Amino acid sequence: MKTFVIILAAGKGERMNAGINKVLIPVCGKTVIRRSVEAFSSFADYMIIVSRVDEQSLILSEIGCLQPDFPVRFVSGGSTRQESVLNALRTLEYECGDIVLIHDAARCMTDSSLIARVIQAVRDYGSAVPGIPVTSTYKIGNKDYFVTDTPDRSLLYEIQTPQGFFAEKIIPASIRAAQDHITCTDDAGILEYYHIPVKIVKGSSTNIKLTEQEDLVRAKIILEGGNVSMRIGMGYDVHRLVSGRKLILCGVEIPFDLGLLGHSDADVALHALMDAMLGACALGDIGRHFPDNDNRFKDISSVSLLRETVNILSDAGYRVFNTDITIVAQKPKLIPFIPDMVRLVSAELDLPSDFVNIKATTTEKLGFEGRMEGISAYAVCTVVEKN
Ligand code: CTP
Ligand code: MG
Repeated sequence: MKTFVIILAAGKGERMNAGINKVLIPVCGKTVIRRSVEAFSSFADYMIIVSRVDEQSLILSEIGCLQPDFPVRFVSGGSTRQESVLNALRTLEYECGDIVLIHDAARCMTDSSLIARVIQAVRDYGSAVPGIPVTSTYKIGNKDYFVTDTPDRSLLYEIQTPQGFFAEKIIPASIRAAQDHITCTDDAGILEYYHIPVKIVKGSSTNIKLTEQEDLVRAKIILEGGNVSMRIGMGYDVHRLVSGRKLILCGVEIPFDLGLLGHSDADVALHALMDAMLGACALGDIGRHFPDNDNRFKDISSVSLLRETVNILSDAGYRVFNTDITIVAQKPKLIPFIPDMVRLVSAELDLPSDFVNIKATTTEKLGFEGRMEGISAYAVCTVVEKN
């Protein structure tokens, strides 16, 4: 008997408002679609990914995690989730007893024990959905916002995916529902409409569907091991621009006829970053750890000071979670150097590059930066406890 896994990724992710389909968003270094595919790869004899045609090649490059000979194929999505599911179901060549799991790619943190529970319940009962007993009171309201009913909470479950079925139950029922113009918000709803029993198995509180921006924050907290003790720090630094010195920003040497004056290499951006890191952990500032009257730090590369700061945080039990740095300089144009800066900082902090943001701005020729007397930098960073 085979298990078909249908991964639904053909939505637009409009409520996420990210400018791209939410299944292509990276969460803690891996895209949503890749996480979903990985979660199911050991359960699937065949995987069917339902996607928009123009996103197939992007998704294909994201699922490089699968063995080269893994049987996966693409089916084009429809205009609704139900249509997308039907497009996939119509392509299945099944035998009685084969199992179909239908899963929203947007739930990318599904654990193996939940998938195993659904499969076992399909074998035992023919159809199964994961559900969590609700904890709030739900009311039914009419179009004028008056309450018409309060359902008994002890009978209510919040339903998740994967939803599992014997192929011979879900495929004919879904085709018939399309002919009967029956619309359902989930797959089990179709069987319920035709009075076919559906079993509820225990869902998981971490199996959340990524729908809105705040769900990305929840996902990261879950993936970080439930680490909620996040702290934030900010740093600010200024150095004077003079001739005869190198200009080094975020560890990258930038060709320019002026450079920054200081005891070390005067990398104003890394200094702001280090102050933010130390500030987040209530460990003072760089002046305290690397005094400018100490000859050990004369002309030292700020990258080595950054390494030392990473160690100071580590000894205190923290690591950087993300950072955002702004460099304020009238000249030179810094945009071409930013990718190198991000690479260097993310490597030193041991972070995926999407957890490091570096940007530059001018001040429209106002102030000391505008007059090119100096360059300033601001940084914020969050830190979490090391696991
Ligand atoms: N989906 C699909 N085909 C559609 C609509 C949705 O395959 N026509 C998929 C989505 O990619 C998602 C899952 O169904 O993985 C659940 O749908 P939802 O959370 O509503 O995702 P989107 O439709 O992408 O989001 P939104 O409704 O905010 O646009
Ligand atoms: Mg939708």
